[in-house]
Amino acid sequence: MTGTPKRDFLTLADLSPDEIREVLALAARMKAGDYRETPLAGKVMIMIFRKSSTRTRVSFEVGVLQLGGHAIFLSDRDSQIGRGEPIADTAKVLSGYGDLLMVRTFGHHEVIELAEHSTIPVINGLTDLVHPCQILADLQAVQEEFGPELRGRTVAWIGDGNNVANSWIRAARMLDFRLKLACPEGYDPDPEILAWGAAEGHVELLRDAHEAARGAHVITTDVWASMGQEEEQRVREAAFAGFQVDESVMDAADPAGIFLHCLPAHRGEEVTAGVIDGPRSRIVPEAHNRLHAQKALVVHLMR
Ligand code: CP
Ligand code: NVA
Repeated sequence: MTGTPKRDFLTLADLSPDEIREVLALAARMKAGDYRETPLAGKVMIMIFRKSSTRTRVSFEVGVLQLGGHAIFLSDRDSQIGRGEPIADTAKVLSGYGDLLMVRTFGHHEVIELAEHSTIPVINGLTDLVHPCQILADLQAVQEEFGPELRGRTVAWIGDGNNVANSWIRAARMLDFRLKLACPEGYDPDPEILAWGAAEGHVELLRDAHEAARGAHVITTDVWASMGQEEEQRVREAAFAGFQVDESVMDAADPAGIFLHCLPAHRGEEVTAGVIDGPRSRIVPEAHNRLHAQKALVVHLMR
């Protein structure tokens, strides 16, 4: 191989803090309509979805099209991946067809293996461990509300210490803001990521939703049972009682504080309808930012 090595985006840490800021600035330009280039002309992104998706699939597909390229969708049902073809073989073969791979799957090791064996950039569209594309869009929503400087902001995560929470932890330390998580015991974030986030004091794990929410500029949460955990739904409903984002949790936040949710949401479970459909909710621009943030990411990785 010649030239610069390919750039993967498996976790937020695959970009430097400055690169994240650059991607977010480009995403803002794209959202404002101030970007008309088509750097993906003649290029193809191959998207592997081993789990369901609305936002990730459509935003990548539309985004690649707007950048002049083409996207191909593969699922377990209609590809050999679901029949057990080795990831390494898939990675090597698809590298000869396309210019970019996007993958959503269960085990994070699968995206690592895919990246190791592919010669084209791999983007993580969610694993059980992290959801870095989501956090780019969420950070863009925070910037839209409070300005480009994220340093000094406080974000409160209420609920499951899941893939989205793990990516928030990485963002907090990399971009120098404070993250207070309130998770019930037994549902903590990944211990290594949490320890890394806490090492310089950016991240704190609490057991009380109101305490985490106090003074926060952003209150955010996610479903109690993620994809692949559906059979735990009833056990989780019991464990997460007291970890719902309701009006009283929002009252504890900064008066200008906003509500974010990666979606899909379960009204009446992790969040009340009053909050998610209320005046402090920014879920729709947040979801729209998936398009702009990922377009900016793709342009950055392909430079
Ligand atoms: N937030 C998110 O990733 O949504 P989808 O599952 O619809 O892609
Ligand atoms: N934590 C959720 C996020 C969905 C976008 C899940 O993994 O199902």
